[in-house]
Amino acid sequence: MFDLRQDADALSILSRDSETLLPVYARYPVVMDHGTGVYLYDSSGNRYLDLMAGLGVNALGHAHPRMVAAMADQASKLVHLSPLYASRYPGELAERLCALSGLKGVFYSTGGSEAVEGALKLARTHARQNFTHPKHGIVALRNSYHGRTYGSLSVTGQDKYRLDFGPGLPHVTFVDRDNLEQLRTAVTDATAAILIEPILGEGGVHIIDDAFLVEARRLADQHHALLIFDEIQCGLGRSGDWFAYTRSGVQPDALILGKPLGGGIPLSALVVNEKLFNAFGMAKHGSTLGGSPLACRLGLEYLQIVEEEGLLAQVTDTGDYLLQQLRQLALASPIAVEARGRGLLLGLEITQPARPIAEAALEQGLMLNVVQGNVLRFLPSFLLERKHVDIAIELISRILNMGGDGSTISSSGLGSSKQAAVSKVDSLEPATV
Ligand SMILES: Cc1ncc(COP(=O)(O)O)c(C=O)c1O
Repeated sequence: MFDLRQDADALSILSRDSETLLPVYARYPVVMDHGTGVYLYDSSGNRYLDLMAGLGVNALGHAHPRMVAAMADQASKLVHLSPLYASRYPGELAERLCALSGLKGVFYSTGGSEAVEGALKLARTHARQNFTHPKHGIVALRNSYHGRTYGSLSVTGQDKYRLDFGPGLPHVTFVDRDNLEQLRTAVTDATAAILIEPILGEGGVHIIDDAFLVEARRLADQHHALLIFDEIQCGLGRSGDWFAYTRSGVQPDALILGKPLGGGIPLSALVVNEKLFNAFGMAKHGSTLGGSPLACRLGLEYLQIVEEEGLLAQVTDTGDYLLQQLRQLALASPIAVEARGRGLLLGLEITQPARPIAEAALEQGLMLNVVQGNVLRFLPSFLLERKHVDIAIELISRILNMGGDGSTISSSGLGSSKQAAVSKVDSLEPATV
């Protein structure tokens, strides 16, 4: 089936993992060793063009020299400090995030789910402090993804993740994206918060209409609910703007950020407006590891690099080019339905399971990611260039053409050994390291 030749050491690592790590992830049978820029190398010496960037975390690619230098310098000085003490970088990063978003203050956590928990707690406590009637409701979107902890899972609009662990938090209502009528019915005076990913990422890559965001803002104001945007995946430059919501002109009360923020060191941020600045209250919320000096220093370095290297413009340029190529591919292939997304958060929906396509691509030295079973999601590093897009498109179109007659693609369908496959990427852009 899936033949990715790995050396004996790699095979023993894979075998040990299968004995010791809970089988929760549908992992690919390769052992990665190191990366540079948009490329990753496995421990058997094969090179891969990485179009998933650690699920969006590695927005500056692998081993960016400035991130490596900042990490080494900070690691030699101060990695972790109890949140009960101050150091230079958390406040400096908060100031920067507030300046970019127009919001007022930041609470740091580690992963995205933890920051979503914070947002839910904030919404509930804000409602309790300001209103005497029951006001616990959270309105979220069907097909959304907000994380795996109990609160974040409870507001994730996908039964397949939630139902095995139920019951979750009560008072959660889901509405279809862009459905104004459902939104108007769902939001009432009992609503504490409306929670929206401005671009649904894990849900299959769907941009939420500006009109829906505008109406969510209006309803939140009318019913004294908070409007919270989860930009853990689509924020911090991935859409080509600092934040995906910016173009709508809508301002949220709270914004949740994560993924690339700490450059791979866990860091997430709940950024809130003036009225929420004191809402948690002293010692009512916390995170031992959130907002470490190391993570915050890397957060600042990340923002500076994106700015100084003009990466927002590059995300827009490369993203537009990739989207255009994917659209052409969708027109040409009977098994491709639609290409969509913005910046470097793109999806290609196909008519059959996409996993075999990702496996066939990996055999060819191309790392893709699958969501919703039949959507190839593209979440590459912002360093991706048009020449890398050309390589990826050529490989993907070859794979899709195998299913051009409607037959199902299998990972071994190209009949190529891994060596031949990876040399395909190498032949298109020779390795320099
Ligand atoms: C929009 C969104 N929210 C929340 C999360 C959860 O973040 P984490 O996996 O870091 O807990 C994710 C992760 O993919 C996400 O895409």
